[in-house]
Amino acid sequence: MKIAVIGSNNVDLISYIHRMPAVGETIEAPDFRLGCGGKGANQAVAASRLGSEVLMVTRVGNDLFAENTVANFKENGIDDKYILRTEGSSGVAPIFVDEKSNNSIIIIKGANALLSPADLDNARDDIATCQLIVLQLEISLETVYAAIDLGKELGIPVLLNPAPAAPELSLERVRTVDFIMPNETELELLSGMPVESIEDIKNAAHVLRDVGIANVIVTLGARGVLWISEHGEQIIEGNAVDALDTTGAGDAFIGCFSHYWAKTGDVAESLRIANLYAGDSVTKYGTQTSYATASEFEEKFAGQL
Ligand code: RIB
Repeated sequence: MKIAVIGSNNVDLISYIHRMPAVGETIEAPDFRLGCGGKGANQAVAASRLGSEVLMVTRVGNDLFAENTVANFKENGIDDKYILRTEGSSGVAPIFVDEKSNNSIIIIKGANALLSPADLDNARDDIATCQLIVLQLEISLETVYAAIDLGKELGIPVLLNPAPAAPELSLERVRTVDFIMPNETELELLSGMPVESIEDIKNAAHVLRDVGIANVIVTLGARGVLWISEHGEQIIEGNAVDALDTTGAGDAFIGCFSHYWAKTGDVAESLRIANLYAGDSVTKYGTQTSYATASEFEEKFAGQL
C-alpha cells in the first residue's frame, strides 16, 4: 500500500484545562503537552504506523520546530524527500482540551500556506506510484484543487477530508474526489443544511452526493459513520469507550481507513476497522501520541481485525 498525503504539519501546543476561560480571564492549565500534529501529518503517521508506505508532501519553516517535525516523520517511517523548507514559521496549533475531553483548536498555517501546485509538479513522478491521494484543508485551496486535478489526471483515487471547515471551498471544484469525509460541522457548512438529527445528516450528505462525489462518509464521533454511495446509505456503528482526549481522532480514523482501503478496497470493512482505531486513540492523550502501531492495534483488537 502506498499513499500520498499532501497536506499540513503543525506543532501541537496542548493545554489541558478544567474549562474554557471567559473573555478577559486568565486561568491555570493543570497540564500541558507539546507534540507533533497537523491534520496531514497525523493522517500520514497513522497510515504509516499501520504499515502503509507514505509519501508526505508538506512544508516546514526554518524555526526551532522544523527539525523536530522532520525527525518525527523519519521516526515514523515517512520519507523526507518532499518535506520542503520555507523561510518563516512552521505551522503551529494551540489546543485546549477541557475535563469533558472537548477540544478547541487554533491553527497558524505558517509554512503550510506556502505549499504550492508547483511543489506537487515536482513530486508528480513519485505521487504517480501511489494508490490513494489524501487531502485536508490546512494548505491553500489552490493546492488542494491542483492535487485533485492531478489525481484525476493520473487515475489515482482521491480522499478529501474537508477540515477545518472552509466556507470558500467550492463543491463544484471537488466533485471528482472519490471520497469526501466531513464531520457534522463541516457537513453543515458544505451543504448549507441543518445537521441536528440523523435524517438531517443524511439529507445534507445527499447534497454532496448530488454534485457527483462517489462516496460521502460523515464521521459522527462515538456514533460511528454514515456512508452514502451508489449502493445506498449505511451506518457503521462506533464503539463505546471512555474518552480522555479526542484531539486528532478524526485524523486517526482517516489514516486508518486509508491504509485498510488501499490494502483491501473494501470500504465498509475499512470503516469498521477505522472506528476501532479512532476509538482507541481517544483513550490516550495527545494527537499522534495516541495512535497505535500495527502490532499494538492487532494485539488489542485480536479477533476483530
Ligand atoms: O485534527 C487535529 C489536528 O488539528 C491537530 O493536530 C492540530 O495540529 C490541527 O491541525
